[in-house]
Amino acid sequence: MAQSPIDGGVILLTGASSGIGLEFARQVAGRARKLIVVARRVEKLEELKKDLVALHPKLEVQVEKCDLSDLVATRALAAKVLAEAEVDVLINNAGIGDMGVFERANVERLVSMIDLNVTSLVLLTHAFVGPMVARGRGGILNVSSGAGMSYMPGFAVYTGTKHFVTGFTETLSVDLAGTGVHVTQLCPGPVPTEFEKTAGNFTGQSAPKLIEVTAAHCARVALRALDANRAMVIPGFIINLLLLMSKYTPRWLVRALARPVGKALRKKQLAAT
Ligand SMILES: NC(=O)c1ccc[n+]([C@@H]2O[C@H](COP(=O)([O-])OP(=O)(O)OC[C@H]3O[C@@H](n4cnc5c(N)ncnc54)[C@H](OP(=O)(O)O)[C@@H]3O)[C@@H](O)[C@H]2O)c1
Repeated sequence: MAQSPIDGGVILLTGASSGIGLEFARQVAGRARKLIVVARRVEKLEELKKDLVALHPKLEVQVEKCDLSDLVATRALAAKVLAEAEVDVLINNAGIGDMGVFERANVERLVSMIDLNVTSLVLLTHAFVGPMVARGRGGILNVSSGAGMSYMPGFAVYTGTKHFVTGFTETLSVDLAGTGVHVTQLCPGPVPTEFEKTAGNFTGQSAPKLIEVTAAHCARVALRALDANRAMVIPGFIINLLLLMSKYTPRWLVRALARPVGKALRKKQLAAT
């Protein structure tokens, strides 16, 4: 196998301050030359930098505070990084969800989520993929979701953003075939991170433990897939099985099965407010 773009490379990683992103940072730290970590909570990134450099003294870690739902800030970040470094691998991991009845959602928050999950991901990919193609080497790793391939009642706009990420990344993996640029997407089911709290889970219930996978496992299988230039990876046996079943079940039947869940969520939210 050709050498992975991670090894000895410069990695730009968004959403490194918690969850799956934090695990990406820990797992590439021993392989990369330089790691540029991006998020809003800069104190968490500084803490991460201290820990990583203590473990890997040769690693250079650059902290970049950026609100990626602010598209002007995203463009400025891309321009700054492009001027300073040749990025070998871009990991678009930052993302949020928003749970609840669609018509009751804060529309500004929904737009901000689309800007973060979709538009900033496209802006960053566009900024860094050109130089990668020109060098004949590089990697794009986008974090989508199992929701990018199915339905998630109570998460209409989030599901839409992840359908975009899945369609975009899969098409890109085809379009960039033969260029030397690896393109991979990670599509996890439920992962215990800050995601659920940020998404505003009001139900008092979490996903069954049986279908959960850890953030560390997600990062491990995704990096392995990027090394091998595999277009898509879904971590966890059960979630693979569920997505496979949903793929071969008529859409009307999937909708019929999801409808009671949507109705129960609506009832719960309306009762709570
Ligand atoms: N957890 C799950 O069940 C699950 C399942 C499928 C897919 N995913 C996807 O996995 C990815 C990582 O999520 P996670 O589960 O690790 O959640 P998490 O623990 O909440 O981490 C989200 C990361 O994104 C960053 N972020 C959020 N808003 C940002 C903004 N406006 N600007 C810059 N950075 C921002 C956060 O940093 P700051 O808050 O410091 O900015 C944090 O580092 C997301 O794309 C999510 O959609 C998660």
